Amino acid sequence: MLLRSRSRRLRKTLPLIGAAVALTAGALVGLPGAAQAAGPLPCDIYGSAGTQCVAAHSTTRALFAAYGGNLYQVRRASDNATANIGVLAAGDYANAAAQDSFCANTSCVITIIYDQTARHNDLTIEPAGTAGPANSGVPADALPVTAGGHLVYGASFSGRMGYRHRAASGVAVNGQPEGMYMVTSGTHFNSACCFDYGNVEVPIADTGNGHMDAIYFGTLCWFAPCNGSGPWVMADLENGLFQSNTGGSQNTANTGNRAPFVTATLKNNGQNFFAFKDGSAQSGGLATRYSGALPTFRPGYSPMHQEGSIVLGTGGDNSNGSIGSFFEGVMTAGVPSDAAENSVQANIVSVGYGGPSPVAGGTLNPGSTISLRATTANSTTRYIRHQNNNAITSVVAAGSSAVDRSDATWIVRRGLANNSCVSFESRNFPGDFLRHSNFQLFRQPMDGTALFRSDATFCPQAGRSGQGTSFASLNFPTRFLRHFNNTLFIASNGGPNTFDTATSWAADVSWAVSSPWTA
Ligand code: AHR
Repeated sequence: MLLRSRSRRLRKTLPLIGAAVALTAGALVGLPGAAQAAGPLPCDIYGSAGTQCVAAHSTTRALFAAYGGNLYQVRRASDNATANIGVLAAGDYANAAAQDSFCANTSCVITIIYDQTARHNDLTIEPAGTAGPANSGVPADALPVTAGGHLVYGASFSGRMGYRHRAASGVAVNGQPEGMYMVTSGTHFNSACCFDYGNVEVPIADTGNGHMDAIYFGTLCWFAPCNGSGPWVMADLENGLFQSNTGGSQNTANTGNRAPFVTATLKNNGQNFFAFKDGSAQSGGLATRYSGALPTFRPGYSPMHQEGSIVLGTGGDNSNGSIGSFFEGVMTAGVPSDAAENSVQANIVSVGYGGPSPVAGGTLNPGSTISLRATTANSTTRYIRHQNNNAITSVVAAGSSAVDRSDATWIVRRGLANNSCVSFESRNFPGDFLRHSNFQLFRQPMDGTALFRSDATFCPQAGRSGQGTSFASLNFPTRFLRHFNNTLFIASNGGPNTFDTATSWAADVSWAVSSPWTA
C-alpha cells in the first residue's frame, strides 16, 4: 500500500562485488564426473619434498591420494542428528549426495572439518574469544561448486563463523618453520578482521606479536600502502596483517585477486624470512607477492612465537566480523620449496574448480538472481531493495543508478532454515540476507543462529491476489512479505499492527519475480 513516500536517507554502500554470481549462482544438481586422478595430491607432493602436511582440511576432496576417510561432519536442524561426509573413493571428491540426502527438507551446518593427516587436527566450531562471541558453523549447502566434474560444497563464511583446533599436533611453535596454502574466493570477502587459515594462539586471545602465522584474505588494509582495491593475501602475524617486512605492500603489481577461486600460500621460517603468493586456482601459476625478511620495525616477529593452534575464518583472538570462502587448505612442517608449491598449484588447477551449472535469472531456483516487483496497482514500478540496512520498496528503472539497481537485486538461496523454501541474499552485500525482526524486514549479515535462519526463510506460494508469488514467513506462517508505506514487513491479513491491515493486503503480499536489475 502506497501511503506516502519516505525521505531518502544517506546511503552506505560497499563496492559492487562484480564476479560474485559467477561463483555462487548455480543449479544444485550433481554432474557426472571423473574420479580424481591417481597421481600425487597436495600432501603427497609436500611430503615427497620433505615438508610433511601436519594438517589437511577440505570440504571438497581428499588431499592425499590414499585418503578414504571423512572430510567433514554436518548437523541437521530438524533433529540435531549428525552425519559424516566422506569421499567417493580413496583420493577422490566429496560425496555431496550423502549430504543432500541427510539434509533434505531441513538445513545443515558443518560442525567438524576433519584433518586428513593422522594427527587428527580436526577443526570444530570456535567458541568465544576475547574479541568475539562464540561462532556458528557454516551452512553446509551455501556454496555449491564443481570439482572434477562433481557437485561438491565449499564452506561459505558469514560473520560470526569460524573453526579452531587448539594446541594442534605437529604445527610449528616458537620459531619453527612452516608453510600453508588455502583455496578461497576473490568474490566473497570484506574488510573486517580476519578471514584467516593457519597458526594461532592456544588461548583464544591476542597473546602478542608473532604468536600467529596465518594466511589472511580480504580487504582489511592494516599497514599502508595497499595497492589497488584487493582483496589481498597477507600474513596475519598477530597485531598486524603484513604484506612485507615494513608492513605495507612493496609490490605495486599486487592490486589484489578477484578470481572466483584463489590459491593463497604463506611460508615462514620462523626466524627471519616469510613469503606469500597467490594465483587463480583455475589456471596458471602463482605470483610471489613478497619474499624476504620478517618485520623488525616492531618487536616479536623475528623470531616468531607461534603457538601451534589452527584457525579457519576468524582472527587469533576470534575477531569474527569477516566473511570468506574455503575449499581446501593444508599446513606443513618446514618451509615448502617453490617447486613443491608449483606442483601443488598444478594439482589444484587440475581439479577444475568451477561454478555449478548456470541458472537462469528471474526464477526462484537457488542460484538465480532476481528482482521482486510489487503488483499493487499504484506501486507496479517499485521493487524490494535495501537502503541503510532497511528493506523498502523504491522505483527502479533502466535509468536508475548502478547502486539502486544492485540494491534491488537478490540471489535466491535454498532456505537457510528449510531447504525446500528460499532465502534472499543481497547481490551487492554477499553474506547479507533479507530477514525480519519485530516483523520488519532488514538486510543483515547472516550470523548463523537458528533465529536468523528462520527469520530469513520464506516459503513461496501462488500470489494471494491471484497474480505473482507470495512469500510466507517460515516462523510466522500466517505472515507474508508485504510492502506497506514503502517499507517491508511480514504481515497477516488483518491483525494488531497498522501494517496488518486487510485493506490491499492480498495485492501487497503478491510479488512479480522478475529479471534481475543487476546481472
Ligand atoms: O593481526 C590481526 C588480528 O589482530 C589478529 O588476527 C587478531 O588476533 C588481532 O585482533
